[in-house]
Amino acid sequence: MRYAGGKKKLIATILGRFGDDIISAILRGEVRTYTEPFVGGGGSAIRILRVLPSNLKIELNDFDRNVADLWTCILREPDYLVKRIREHHLSVDSYKSAIDALEGEALDSRERGFLTLFTQQGSRNGSILKGPIGGWCQRNKNPRSQITSEWRPECLVSSVWQMHALLRKFRSCDISSTDFAPLVRCAGPDTACYLDPPYFKAGPDLYRHGKFEHERLAGVLKKAKCHWLLSYDDHPAIRRLYSWAMIHDLEAGYERPDGSKALGRELVIVPREERRT
Ligand SMILES: C[S@@+](CC[C@H](N)C(=O)[O-])C[C@H]1O[C@@H](n2cnc3c(N)ncnc32)[C@H](O)[C@@H]1O
Repeated sequence: MRYAGGKKKLIATILGRFGDDIISAILRGEVRTYTEPFVGGGGSAIRILRVLPSNLKIELNDFDRNVADLWTCILREPDYLVKRIREHHLSVDSYKSAIDALEGEALDSRERGFLTLFTQQGSRNGSILKGPIGGWCQRNKNPRSQITSEWRPECLVSSVWQMHALLRKFRSCDISSTDFAPLVRCAGPDTACYLDPPYFKAGPDLYRHGKFEHERLAGVLKKAKCHWLLSYDDHPAIRRLYSWAMIHDLEAGYERPDGSKALGRELVIVPREERRT
């Protein structure tokens, strides 16, 4: 699934290079719950869940109700999602109606889930705040620059079934739509937590809840008892906020708003070793 800031390409490198604490706790059998308080499009979650043992409890959360409804639909009503993917036609008009419907209150949660998937696939950079791929007028007739360029119904259907099977393999799976803080505060030493909050710089332009209180997250993590790992964009403010933790640099490829590729720097932050002893 397309999602702005999704970590599907980076997560293996992030875990392979900086996930020692979490991985060894899982291998030692100390972890009973895996949680992602900022699940978004699941680019990171899906790759991590594939390698986790099935006796774990999984908690996936996103403050954005639309995103949480999509995950609930994948978990509980994949047939509905598949039916809607197959019968819906993506165009500027249907995209606009879907955005309008998502802004209202009339939708049931499974249709909200479907329209979230639908609009993300048609949006620039996978963010509905950016409008449709190719703009509202679709002037560029190159198929790769049009709203339908990422709409591949049968690929989506197969992803939905794969994600559904993956979530079902675990002891239990909870999907929620709340603020991150209670989840992280309640997580004890038997919980592993990957956190991918909105980017410091670009977050407000990408997510419905992008105006994020970064200091508050740092305060909650400072007291956290769980095994955690956090990824961020490289910004002096983030380096300052986490001066008490271990900050690692990672070179990462990303897509500019015009679709071209560039190389940037990400931060991967973990607690200092002595905090665990
Ligand atoms: C960088 S994205 C996560 C991307 C995800 N890791 C992926 O690979 O698709 C950050 C997410 O945080 C969510 N968010 C923003 N504020 C939040 C809050 N206070 N609590 C929980 N989630 C929040 C946004 O809706 C967004 O989906």
